[in-house]
Amino acid sequence: MQIRAARLDDAAAIDAVLARACPALMASSYNADLLAAALPAMVKAQPALLQSGTYYVAEDAGRLIGCGGWSFEEPGSRRLEDGLAHLRHFATDPAMVRRGVGRAIVARCLAMATARGVTCFEAFASLNAEPFYQSLGLERLDRVDLPMAPGIRLPAIRMRGSVPAMEHRLKPA
Ligand SMILES: CC(C)(COP(=O)(O)OP(=O)(O)OC[C@H]1O[C@@H](n2cnc3c(N)ncnc32)[C@H](O)[C@@H]1OP(=O)(O)O)[C@@H](O)C(=O)NCCC(=O)NCCS
Repeated sequence: MQIRAARLDDAAAIDAVLARACPALMASSYNADLLAAALPAMVKAQPALLQSGTYYVAEDAGRLIGCGGWSFEEPGSRRLEDGLAHLRHFATDPAMVRRGVGRAIVARCLAMATARGVTCFEAFASLNAEPFYQSLGLERLDRVDLPMAPGIRLPAIRMRGSVPAMEHRLKPA
């Protein structure tokens, strides 16, 4: 598996991973009608992230199998806090889950962000993704409802982890 910075021309392959991952892997945690209404906002690659240099893709033999990244800005509010970064738009191809793809992308985020002064990460975790972020050293702060479309709000969990806690979890056993 190789991790590299995403480019704008990865958009179609990222859309395809998001379109496979989100319906399949979120269905266990959300009501079907709510998920169907929220999906259109989730399954499109975000051009600003693709151009940021801090959004990454995982490839296996040239095939895109995962994506995710970080930003200084909080998604939605664009709020900035010294030393804080936000994990953004993670997904792994359902055929490749539980093989460390997401974890490897978070490790890349950590390496790149700490070099730029980041000491702490937050994530708006979908309910299904809480165990993933928890395994990487983030802890639940509070429940939030993320606006996805007019009248559609997706329950999620705001999580936070310090860089030392995350580095500890990412250390090879
Ligand atoms: C969340 C997601 C990105 C995780 O990707 P992944 O590549 O399977 O994650 P990893 O293999 O790196 O998992 C690392 C650890 O996280 C935990 N974890 C991951 N998925 C888990 C699950 N479904 N249930 C319990 N623990 C889980 C485990 O501790 C795992 O380590 P282990 O497999 O050795 O036990 C993936 O499930 C996904 O694409 N979900 C749908 C989209 C989504 O919800 N994205 C997050 C938006 S906030």
